[in-house]
Amino acid sequence: MEVKTQVVNALAENKKTALLVLGGVGAAAAILAFKYLRKPEELVRVGVVSQLLVHPLKSGKAVSVALAECHKFGLRFGELQDRHWLVVKEDGQMVTGRQQPRLVLVSLTCEGGHVCLNGPNMEELKFPVKQPDNHVMDCRVFGDDIQGRDCGDEASRWLTRYLGEEKTFRLVHFEPQMKARQSPEPLFPRDEKVAYLDVGPVMLLSEASVQNLSSKLEKDVTVSRFRPNIVISDCEAFAEDSWAEIQIGNVRLQRVMSCGRCIFTTVDPETGIINRKEPLETLKSYRLCDPSEKDIYKASPLFGQLHTVKKTGILQVGDIVYKISR
Ligand SMILES: *[C@@H]1O[C@H](CO)[C@@H](O)[C@H](O)[C@H]1NC(C)=O
Repeated sequence: MEVKTQVVNALAENKKTALLVLGGVGAAAAILAFKYLRKPEELVRVGVVSQLLVHPLKSGKAVSVALAECHKFGLRFGELQDRHWLVVKEDGQMVTGRQQPRLVLVSLTCEGGHVCLNGPNMEELKFPVKQPDNHVMDCRVFGDDIQGRDCGDEASRWLTRYLGEEKTFRLVHFEPQMKARQSPEPLFPRDEKVAYLDVGPVMLLSEASVQNLSSKLEKDVTVSRFRPNIVISDCEAFAEDSWAEIQIGNVRLQRVMSCGRCIFTTVDPETGIINRKEPLETLKSYRLCDPSEKDIYKASPLFGQLHTVKKTGILQVGDIVYKISR
């Protein structure tokens, strides 16, 4: 009111003064609006990080780490980067646990610049992480073109023997200079780049959600079957569905969508056997999407949340998870 009177008075006096006053009022209003209308952020504790899981080999065994870098491509621990190695057929077509369920028993780790491949009844195979003289293969991941550096004939023979099929398999590695894929999900930002993972860089799941599902099954399931990157304890089942933005340590994550589940969840991570039924059918009995989101998730039940990385940094087991509310 006071400001208005001033303006009116000034107008009556002189147009030039009026403009100056108006300009000043505008600036002051903008500052006030910025200070008071923009609610301060509030961090609300919602859980604790209980596990950090990196899956260096797509569909391979998870590597549990106490600390990980969280960057745009997801979790990384030294040379182990999430979904940066991929099994392909000779024509470059990706091979996952959906076609070769026994892949879930293959562990790929790194040690002193070497990759170590291990699997049941197989001798360990070691080869250098960097093999710059090997050729780069053109590969296909979910129909998208992507490259990968061939890891050599020994790795190929090892995988071919392990999977025990007539056809030959090869192992490829994604290197930083290679062209990444765009996330296949339109809900992800257009500039979201991914290597060999399915959809987005970080998948988050709570222990309580897995317990909730287990309570409905004849046989318990464990977290590893669902291949999350960040496992959260100390929260209610499906609490993660309602965290739009979270902070863990100095890392900020933003929820993009739920994780729609497929037949891969029916592979037992301990035996590598696919049953093609459970827990997928039970999930479908109570975790289907809202009808308004059918175009996004189709008939896939939802379990876990996919996030994009807003602020990179370090994650540690034991870190408190904060929901950011404004
Ligand atoms: C499992 O979660 C559902 C919500 O989807 C809830 O209604 C139910 O009570 C939970 N069951 C258990 C055993 O926690």
